[in-house]
Amino acid sequence: MAIIMEEQTSAVKAPAKDKLRIGIIGCGGIANNKHMPSLKKIENVEMVAFCDIIIERAEKAAKEYGAPGSKVYADYRQLLEDKSIDIVHVCTPNRSHSFITVDALEAGKHVMCEKPMAINATEAKKMLDAAKRTGKKLTIGYQNRQRDDALYMKQEALAGTFGDIYFARATALRRRAVPTWGVFINEYEQGGGPLIDIGTHALDLTLWIMDNYKPKYCVGTTYHALNKDRNTGNAWGDWDVDKFTTEDCAFGFVVMENGATIILESSWALNLIDCREAITTVCGTKAGGDMLDGVRINGVHLGRQYVTKPNLSAGGVAFYEGNKGADPSEREARAWIDAVVNNKAPFVLPEQAYAVSQILSGIYESARTGNIVYFN
Ligand SMILES: NC(=O)c1ccc[n+]([C@@H]2O[C@H](COP(=O)([O-])OP(=O)(O)OC[C@H]3O[C@@H](n4cnc5c(N)ncnc54)[C@H](O)[C@@H]3O)[C@@H](O)[C@H]2O)c1
Repeated sequence: MAIIMEEQTSAVKAPAKDKLRIGIIGCGGIANNKHMPSLKKIENVEMVAFCDIIIERAEKAAKEYGAPGSKVYADYRQLLEDKSIDIVHVCTPNRSHSFITVDALEAGKHVMCEKPMAINATEAKKMLDAAKRTGKKLTIGYQNRQRDDALYMKQEALAGTFGDIYFARATALRRRAVPTWGVFINEYEQGGGPLIDIGTHALDLTLWIMDNYKPKYCVGTTYHALNKDRNTGNAWGDWDVDKFTTEDCAFGFVVMENGATIILESSWALNLIDCREAITTVCGTKAGGDMLDGVRINGVHLGRQYVTKPNLSAGGVAFYEGNKGADPSEREARAWIDAVVNNKAPFVLPEQAYAVSQILSGIYESARTGNIVYFN
């Protein structure tokens, strides 16, 4: 873990100009809870422009997080006209990820776009192509990779602990936690429900730890089983049954080109007690690993089955930098700014996020058609 963490938390080197200038597009939940507080902690960046179709949200964000003289906009295209802006964070609902990101890249900005990459693989491909065409950096907000347990599992995979991983389970299961704010339950705006919203995190973690981005075929099912239920018991208050047009749960069986199998389970609402979110289980030829109770590594040694559990805390001793950067959201922001400043590949590559989108689109297509979907 040390190698990755050192890289993530190292001080960001000074760019040619004093501070990189950042514009935020979409000033809702994720901007306020992840992007803006994290960017505020980074020494050599400043947020100078804020855009939201609900202008009061942009104004509030500018007041709380903006550098003196920050601009606010209701139309993202006006923000993109500002040539002094280096980086744009796209924090709008899924439907607009693709066109805003493509426009921002074409306008010469580096882009951090929220997950999922887009509403489907076709839209995600446009983003990937635009990044290649413009030479600007693009990354996607899969901050779960920056959790201690995920970084540790990745280190084990890199160390060869698991051998060849040929089975994995990507889990994003909620019993009754349908997001009722914004447009999450609107199929048109989001491109889907729990599969594209939280299944995307679990699948990203799984592909990353397997280091396998080549799907061969998949089968999927989606259900609208509980979304018309008025007896919701929902964590965030009752959902509006008339507006809930996405699936409430979805499942996929994915076979990779190398023969590995991934089972993807996702739900916002499911009659299930054992709920887990944004975790993965991997099984390899030498050992297995899961995130079901911290990280657990299982295998056989000297003819005996073993399970080991690394201690992921600092052992009671604060990091010498006072735990700086230990929060996954801040790590994500630091890694991203570091990639821009030092011209490195982003921690989450757009090609990797595109593979996630391909698989999610495949599962939706299979559910819609009843057919196996082959990726070429
Ligand atoms: N990384 C994560 O774990 C995580 C968690 C939550 C949400 N998200 C993602 O973040 C995105 C936004 O989710 P949220 O929870 O912040 O939603 P939200 O509804 O709270 O905020 C979205 C904001 O975007 C604004 N907006 C919509 N269209 C716009 C446009 N064309 N131009 C400018 N502003 C526009 C809305 O008015 C709203 O203020 C989604 O794609 C979601 O999947 C990621």
